[in-house]
Amino acid sequence: MASQETRDRIERRLEELYLRHLALHDDEVAGYYESGVGYYKPEIPEAEPKPFSICLASTGGEVFLAGDHERRFALQSISKMFVYGLALELCGHERVLARVGVEPSGDAFNSIVFDERNNRPFNPMVNAGALATTDLVGGEDAAALERILEVLRRYAGSEGIEVDESVFEAEMLTADRNRATAYLMRSEGMLEGDVEATLALYLRQCSVRVTCRELALIAATLANGGANPATGERALAPRYVRDVLSVMHTCGMYDFAGQWAYRIGIPAKSGVSGGILAVVPGKLGIGVFSPGLDAYGNSVRGTAVCEEISERLGLHVFADAGEDALLGPAP
Ligand code: DON
Repeated sequence: MASQETRDRIERRLEELYLRHLALHDDEVAGYYESGVGYYKPEIPEAEPKPFSICLASTGGEVFLAGDHERRFALQSISKMFVYGLALELCGHERVLARVGVEPSGDAFNSIVFDERNNRPFNPMVNAGALATTDLVGGEDAAALERILEVLRRYAGSEGIEVDESVFEAEMLTADRNRATAYLMRSEGMLEGDVEATLALYLRQCSVRVTCRELALIAATLANGGANPATGERALAPRYVRDVLSVMHTCGMYDFAGQWAYRIGIPAKSGVSGGILAVVPGKLGIGVFSPGLDAYGNSVRGTAVCEEISERLGLHVFADAGEDALLGPAP
């Protein structure tokens, strides 16, 4: 447990980071996403300032909060990681790998391209791969949604995690591309269950609402080997944590994944509502929420904040690679 003095220093720095990024980045926003509407670029800057929050949670269970940390937002694509982990637990490596690969596609999240050599979606982070993963978790099985919610509540250590049915209904209104992808996949034998049931379950998992504080705790659970650092409850077996983090690292940020790994170097996952979750194994979970999106569909402020935290705390996965254990840092 950090001393009060250390806690105060971290909180001051986090507040400073929050205030500085709050004043930046509006001019970098390519658009916003609203369920039932899709992407939009407001004609004139919106009067109402957008919500913004940065939360950190350590593997020791300590939480540091800045901004609108209790404001709920839809998980959207961030939900794909948990369902991938759950599919691995329920079906095992072999069955899951037969249905969805682990290769970065380099394409946008909703691209309708498949790994034709293996007749499967490239990875579980793009919509096609997520539909295959949701199908594995049991598209038709009425209990499947409860299974997904139950595991999410364990990650977050909070019972308040629910599906926002109004977000779900709105998502169903603009689901043509996902529906087309799912029917195409079933025609190629990449989906086994009922397409409408699988699509509905996928869009319900996207419509689960969390706070930024919960997002940081969820990330800390992954950083802590799959056990929630605050409650001790296990959400995922350690051997599958490795798989989920590996796929997050290579595919979590879609066609920005390469730049993210190069510049920030922390396994992460984004969602179109403006959430970003990043995991520093053994150390820290980071949650950022800011709805303004870049051209890749990732939060602009979320990306900038993660880049600065990674740089300032030396969190890049290869940060020490230049450090020669014997001779010290490279000249
Ligand atoms: O299925 C969709 O397209 C949306 N419900 C989720 C997409 C998303 O979050 C992409 N992430 N950046």
